[in-house]
Amino acid sequence: MSVHNIQALILAAGKAKRFKTNTSKLLQKLCGQEMVLYITKALNELNIETAAIVGYQKEAVIDVIKQHHGESVTFITQEKQEGTGHAVLCSKHVWHKDLILILNGDMPLVTSKIIQQIYEKHRATNATITLAVAHDTDPSGAYGRIVQTGNKLAIVEAKEFTGDIEDHPFINAGIYLVQREFLETAITTLNRSTVSNEFYLTDIVKIASDADKIITPVIVPFDCVRGINNFKELWAAEQILRSELINHWMLEGVRFTLPHTNHLDNSVTIGNGSIIQSGVQLFGNTHIGNNCHIHSFSVLNNATLEDNVTVLPHTVIDNSIIKTDALVGPYAHIHNNTIIGEHATVGNFVETKKSTLGAHSKAKHLSYLGDASVGEQVNIGAGSITCNYDGKNKHATTIEDNVFIGSNNTLVAPITIHSGAYTAAGSVI
Ligand code: UD1
Ligand code: CA
Repeated sequence: MSVHNIQALILAAGKAKRFKTNTSKLLQKLCGQEMVLYITKALNELNIETAAIVGYQKEAVIDVIKQHHGESVTFITQEKQEGTGHAVLCSKHVWHKDLILILNGDMPLVTSKIIQQIYEKHRATNATITLAVAHDTDPSGAYGRIVQTGNKLAIVEAKEFTGDIEDHPFINAGIYLVQREFLETAITTLNRSTVSNEFYLTDIVKIASDADKIITPVIVPFDCVRGINNFKELWAAEQILRSELINHWMLEGVRFTLPHTNHLDNSVTIGNGSIIQSGVQLFGNTHIGNNCHIHSFSVLNNATLEDNVTVLPHTVIDNSIIKTDALVGPYAHIHNNTIIGEHATVGNFVETKKSTLGAHSKAKHLSYLGDASVGEQVNIGAGSITCNYDGKNKHATTIEDNVFIGSNNTLVAPITIHSGAYTAAGSVI
């Protein structure tokens, strides 16, 4: 696809009233990624020059886009949100290519393949406007409907549509490829809707049709162009994304025993031979090696698991690394840059924070290891804890190799226990 003559505009200024929160919907996350980034990334795959029209909470929206795309996306402000037609008008001064590709920002399921298809149909039909349409007869969606009268086409917005949906089963998806020359005049002739007082971008279709221009509708799957206006629609779209992610990892050799209960963010990776049981949630940059077994209701965020790791039920792992053949849980809380060594065991009701546990070491029951560096082949007895906090500062605990810490020890940091040492049950050290 040659994209040198296209520039894209993403409509991302809206207030998201139907979400009933005080956040721009474009910042709502689906599978761990902000809604608007699904579109910017699809355009980036095609190397299309992109501008985003921002307004409501624009600083935050710009921030998120810049974090991923640096300076490659430009921004235009729509000071007052007076509709999609007005948003496009605000950007007129930056149009310089032959074709303007306009996309709603609230369509995270759209793919670069669909954009490419629209471009190809546009060229093949020599159209003035090419737009994506999808079959959808659910009256609860707030989509504009494609209405044909004789040989004339128009988009009628949901609020203004009075016809029979069965007779007009196609909705406007919110992706338009338009000849710049036509758009330059059409966009200045829009009138406010008498129903909503907004300028509708969709009116350009009627303008083109009345002028006998070629309009090419491209039918695309509804699921790829779902618009998201509220939490209900967000949930539906996220379900689709989540299923796609789980399908992907299944085909890579991962067993999900009850997949409809799992959540995965889109940056998660899982090695083949691994088993993910019911209720497991994997967030952020979690990377799971081969042949790991994550048991039910464990929650992992930015966790790295090497190969053959077992995580027993109800374990929380956050920003930590678990090395090959280690076993953690049930009910373990491993967080804040903890490293659990090869063949090590962290058992029931054990919390570790900013600590390392060496290879073959064990803390099997009811312990707290905070700011601790524990060597290899160490045994931490049941109920033993590091007292790393004196009320003002945190202090380090060092336990060298082959140490045996008896049950119920209180290790008052800063403290070092040298290799081979043995402490009796109930010691305060
Ligand atoms: C829009 C279309 C509708 C289509 C549907 C597809 C119009 C008038 N209607 O309706 O035909 O079926 O999308 O999902 O275009 N925005 C701005 N500035 C504004 C208003 C909106 O930037 O002043 C942005 C929003 O942030 C959003 C996008 O434009 O990303 C679409 O706006 P939205 O209010 O969601 O339009 P719909 O009612 O869904
Ligand atoms: Ca919408």
